[in-house]
Amino acid sequence: MPKIITIDGPAGSGKSTIAREVAKRLGFTYLDTGAMYRALTLKAIRANANLEGSESLIDLIKKTKIDIIAQKDGSLKVFLDKEDVTVEIRKSLVTQKVSFIAKIPGIRTEMVKLQRQFGKTNDIVVEGRDIGTVVFPNADRKFYLDADFNVRVNRRMGDFQTLGQNISLKEVEDDLKKRDNADMTRSVGPLKQAKDAILLDTTNLSIEEVIEKVLSYIK
Ligand code: DC
Repeated sequence: MPKIITIDGPAGSGKSTIAREVAKRLGFTYLDTGAMYRALTLKAIRANANLEGSESLIDLIKKTKIDIIAQKDGSLKVFLDKEDVTVEIRKSLVTQKVSFIAKIPGIRTEMVKLQRQFGKTNDIVVEGRDIGTVVFPNADRKFYLDADFNVRVNRRMGDFQTLGQNISLKEVEDDLKKRDNADMTRSVGPLKQAKDAILLDTTNLSIEEVIEKVLSYIK
């Protein structure tokens, strides 16, 4: 049976950085489930789809191929119907709209199927919001990362700056508040710490310190 390590937590808690690096050190495959929701959101935006219309969006996902391909350096490339959208899905338009897509139960059902499929053939470190609670409730180890709101905002600001996107602190704060609220209150697959997940507050920890803590619970 492949080994499954899950990392859940809110935006900016450090999940992606930690999951990617832990996967690399363990020789596991890294799976970023947020990237899957982002890729579908990009497709819906481009198709001018009504983001409130769940029927047509569920239809859209059935006609969509999302591939997440691990690179030699441990990073991921995300392909939407064979097009490389790795950079595009991180931009603020997708970030602002992704919650509409992520709250639709029929979309989540399809995403969960794809994610479980991935875990059948690979040892994985998989990060998201509902991974330890819904997608892989029997995972070998579960983590829940959190950090103070302002620290998460600053990390997200840094991400946008790296992308060369000009976005104000206020916009990032507002987006994070909205996404936290949407993530925690949706009826299906809300962001929640699994009962058996290890909680790590990353507010005052360096990336290396978090990685070492995570690895210490795995080995
Ligand atoms: O981790 P991220 O910021 O790239 O995730 C983008 C959005 O996707 C996030 O706002 C919530 C949603 N998401 C989700 O609902 N379930 C997951 N397992 C992963 C992400």
